[in-house]
Amino acid sequence: MRVLFVCLGNICRSPSAEGVFRRLLEARGLANRVEVDSCGIGPWHVGKAPDPRAQEAATRRGVDLSGLRARQLAADDFDRFDLLLAMDHDNLEAIEAQRPPNSRVPARLFLEYAGHPGRAVPDPYFGGDRGFDEVLDLIEAASRGLLEEVEAQLEPGP
Ligand code: 4NP
Repeated sequence: MRVLFVCLGNICRSPSAEGVFRRLLEARGLANRVEVDSCGIGPWHVGKAPDPRAQEAATRRGVDLSGLRARQLAADDFDRFDLLLAMDHDNLEAIEAQRPPNSRVPARLFLEYAGHPGRAVPDPYFGGDRGFDEVLDLIEAASRGLLEEVEAQLEPGP
């Protein structure tokens, strides 16, 4: 199973989601059964590590984002992944606008998995440091919900 987190710049929200969800998978011994990646809609930060504020907030929760590098959503992502998870409504619209005609991969708002249908992970980029902790609270809640769904879908392991 392959999950792709999508935000605008791929330096704040989606790499945070990638790191948090991967750590949950590792803790459950599922890291080799679920592939996780993240990307952005915009081109501005391609090749860059996550925003230092995102890295610091994640480090305080035991999640290391330092090895991640930003990239943009690409046409073959619609084939390579089983689930596309958008951080906000604009991201979701951009995904649908780039969807190839024959693509059927589901694209949803990530916070649906936190029991918040229709709610977005707020963009912390132009705000203060506290925004990054709020983002992580939301991401941790949605990651737990996503993990439950993924575990239910995966066949029992060896
Ligand atoms: P992200 O945050 O989408 O969570 O990575 C942003 C990062 C950069 C910009 C916007 C949002 N930007 O406009 O450069």
